[in-house]
Amino acid sequence: MRLADRLSDNVPYLAMALRKKINNAKAKGIDVISLAVGDPFEPTPQPIIDELVSQAQKPENHHYPDDERGLPEFRSTVAAWYQKNYRVEIDPDGEILTLIGTKEGCFYFAQALVNPGDTVLMTDPGYPAYNSSIHLAGGIPHYVPVAEENGFLPRLEDIPTDIAKKSVAFYLNYPNNPTGAIANRAFFSDVVRFAKEYDIAICHDNAYSEIVFNSEDRLSFLEIEGASDVGIEFCSLSKAFNMTGWRIGVAVGNSDIISGISKVKENVDAGVFTPIQYAAITALTKCQDNIDRMIKIHSRRRDMIVETFNSKGWNYVPPKGSIYLWMPTPPGVSSTEFATEIFEKASVVITPGTSYGKNGEGYFRVSPTISDDRLKEAMTRIEKIL
Ligand SMILES: Cc1ncc(COP(=O)(O)O)c(C=O)c1O
Repeated sequence: MRLADRLSDNVPYLAMALRKKINNAKAKGIDVISLAVGDPFEPTPQPIIDELVSQAQKPENHHYPDDERGLPEFRSTVAAWYQKNYRVEIDPDGEILTLIGTKEGCFYFAQALVNPGDTVLMTDPGYPAYNSSIHLAGGIPHYVPVAEENGFLPRLEDIPTDIAKKSVAFYLNYPNNPTGAIANRAFFSDVVRFAKEYDIAICHDNAYSEIVFNSEDRLSFLEIEGASDVGIEFCSLSKAFNMTGWRIGVAVGNSDIISGISKVKENVDAGVFTPIQYAAITALTKCQDNIDRMIKIHSRRRDMIVETFNSKGWNYVPPKGSIYLWMPTPPGVSSTEFATEIFEKASVVITPGTSYGKNGEGYFRVSPTISDDRLKEAMTRIEKIL
């Protein structure tokens, strides 16, 4: 079968490739421990499940959702959440769109903004779905390097003027996957200025909005004056409420971009299953304690990993946000060599930094979203071989 050209320059999505590798090893009877995927181990909080079950019992909820933008009650809950957490006023009618997870939002953002041949900025390293979304829209990614000495924030002044002039959009993501870095107001203000100067649409993917270890560092791009003139932000319930499999998130902000994404979406899907939207209302209004609990769990697991590596000569300072640790490989060892060695000798899967772009060379990403016992076992195995 001859497949469309747009598939030929897209590498297989990272998570799928990893899953294949893990499944092959498991089929050979190897006890593999994966620290490669960011998917909270703990179950979804019970009140959210109860609400889903109760709403699923109602026949009126079994139909196509009435409004593809999302239930009015869900959109007002999101607006109230933004008001409470960030003191940002959002119009639930024109500035909020319910998504089947923010990953699909990344794809739709490009479909709505990018014409074939357009240049789109993303960071390197960066979340692989931006790359795929740009390619699938026929765009050309321009990778903006981020480095440890700049807190893994891009230096906007280093983006060549000719590139900035022809760029139509910029994907950003803080707290960041894979580095764990967070942004600050000064940086976001610079982003707004840059976007206005070059007429660039910003997609700030705040998928890890709730995973910030010091609550004062919690920040929405939309808090910055002028942000909703230039862009949107994604928020996801996946990581904050252990709901990765439920598939619900939101796009919030610039009404033109929101209506552009809506236009694409209404031609493709019919919205999120209504009971899931009611369950998401319960998450946002009644499950704040889950966020506090998960922050404690992430911190504990993060510390286990830091202690293991630092006891073997690393001098690693953990990041301020997200669920990931972005650690340097030993001197002279490439990302792939290190990940391969850990997999072959310890049957533990870590992600080579180059999976997130060529600037990821010299790093590996660890995602400690497994049980304490399994993580302890993984660290014991790694400690033995380091
Ligand atoms: C940066 C980033 N954005 C978006 C997503 C996707 O989240 P969702 O489950 O809301 O689709 C992930 C998932 O790992 C992510 O790391």
